[in-house]
Amino acid sequence: MEIFIGSDHAGFDTKEKIKKYFKERGVDYEDLGVGKLEKLDDYPIFAFRVAEKVAKSKGKSFGILVCGTGTGMAIAANKVPGIRAVAAYDAYSAKMSRLDNNANILGLRGRNFSFNKIKKIINTWLNTSFSFEERHKRRLRKIEMYESKRFK
Ligand code: RB5
Repeated sequence: MEIFIGSDHAGFDTKEKIKKYFKERGVDYEDLGVGKLEKLDDYPIFAFRVAEKVAKSKGKSFGILVCGTGTGMAIAANKVPGIRAVAAYDAYSAKMSRLDNNANILGLRGRNFSFNKIKKIINTWLNTSFSFEERHKRRLRKIEMYESKRFK
C-alpha cells in the first residue's frame, strides 16, 4: 500500500517526524509537500494534492495529512470524490474509521499533541482493515451513490 503524506506549516514538524519514523521502519511513502516551512501556506492545497492521488489509486494507497488540528485537512480532502478522511485524535477513532468507514485518509493534529500519540494513531490506523460487514458496505454505498449523482 503506497502512502502519500502532506502537511501545511502547522503540521510540517510532525510530518518530518513521521517521515523519519517511517524511514526507520522501512515504510514507503511519498511526501507531496509542503517541502519547507512557509508560515502563510494554506492546508487545502496539500489536502487536495494528497486526496487526488489517493482517489486515483482506487484503493491502492492511503493518505496522511497533518495541519494544526487535522480538521481542515479532513474537511478539504473529503471534497474529493472517493475520499473518506478522518481527523483522529486517539487510537479508538483511528481504528473505527478503518473498521467501519474504510477511511483512506488520516488527518492528524500537529499542534499541542505528543508524537507518541501520533505514532499510536498511525500504527493502529495502518494495521486495521475494513471489516467488510454488510451494514458498513451498505452505508458506504449510500455515500458513493450521493457522490456519483452530484459529480456526474
Ligand atoms: C493553520 O493556522 C491552521 O488553521 C491549520 O493548520 C489547520 O489547523 C486547520 O484546520
